[in-house]
Order: sequence, then C-alpha cells, then structure tokens
Amino acid sequence: MVKINTCIFISGKGTNLKKLILNSNKYNFPIKIKLIVCSNKKAEGLKLAKKWSIPFLIFQDNQNLTEKKILVKLKNYKIDLILLAGYMRILSKRFILSFGKSIINIHPSLLPKFKGLNTFEKVLNRKERKTGCTVHFVTEKLDEGKIILKKFFYIEKNDNVASLKKKTQNLEYNAFSEAIIKLTR
Ligand code: GRF
Repeated sequence: MVKINTCIFISGKGTNLKKLILNSNKYNFPIKIKLIVCSNKKAEGLKLAKKWSIPFLIFQDNQNLTEKKILVKLKNYKIDLILLAGYMRILSKRFILSFGKSIINIHPSLLPKFKGLNTFEKVLNRKERKTGCTVHFVTEKLDEGKIILKKFFYIEKNDNVASLKKKTQNLEYNAFSEAIIKLTR
C-alpha cells in the first residue's frame, strides 16, 4: 500500500504519538511517519522518536523563523499530511496556507464546545453530562476546522480533572487512527 508521508507535531508526553507509531508500523495503516516536530526539548515524546529512529526537529525560538525552517524540512521530507498530537502552539495563518495540505488536530473536548485550554475544568464547571475528543482539520481559527470524528463518554459523579483526562486520552488513541483511516478510504 502507498502510505502518506506524515509529520507529527508534539509538545509533551507523546502518548498519542506512540499509538500512531505503532499503527503506522502495520502494513495496512495508511501513513508513514517521516518526521517529528517538537516544540519542547524536554518533551518525553522525543524518546519515542529516538527509539523508533524517526528524524525529529526541535525548536524553541521566534515563531516566524521557526515556521520557515519547518516548511523547508516538510518539503525536504515530501510531507503530505501533518498531525498535531498534543502540540501546544498555535500555527500561524501563513504557515497553514504555505503548507497547503491537510493538517489535522486532536482536541480533548466535544467541539464546538470548550475550545482552547483547560477543557476538563470547563467541562466540570459547566456540569456537562458527557465529554470526549474531536479530530478535526486545522484552519487559522483555533479549534474550528471541519470535524472528522468525535468520540464521547458519560461523565460520572465522582469524575475529576484527572479522571476525565485519562478517559478522554483513552478515547483519543483510537479516534486519531480511525479519523486517518476514514480520510484515506
Ligand atoms: C491530548 O490530550 C490532546 O488532546 C491534547 O494534548 C494531549 C496530548 O497528550 N491536545 P500526549 O502528548 O499525546 O500524551
């Protein structure tokens, strides 16, 4: 099968990245991870890049300069798809337009509810009945691109920020991969 050359952007632990690496190693999963871009040199997720010998790029400097450098690398690696897996920066409109291909993000709420940060606190404060995650296309407007898929669970009485985070992340691992398969079918 011809796989899509993919770059994954991370900032932290990389648990979503791990699942994507494991799936991409299967012969019938439609992406090949050619590059990892990380906005934090201390990110645990970088260990995964090293473990699986995936080329990676770390940056922490001025955003404009950084994005220009990333665009050059994306071209060099012939990247056709970017996945934001716990990437904690906002990509500029210029970057999104210059790349010109699909960028997909996973967000820990049922969009359009609870865009931005601290979603679990917001979910609890608003006494929601359910929550979950959303995989969507990235546009220049934060967390607003077309939705590819959502997964949800019902909130229980004793749930707190930590438990919601854990339950949401467990859903994310499958949601991201399912969304990729859905798009490439
Ligand atoms: C995920 O919960 C994702 O929704 C959010 O950041 C978290 C990343 O976790 N944007 P990890 O780095 O994949 O472990």
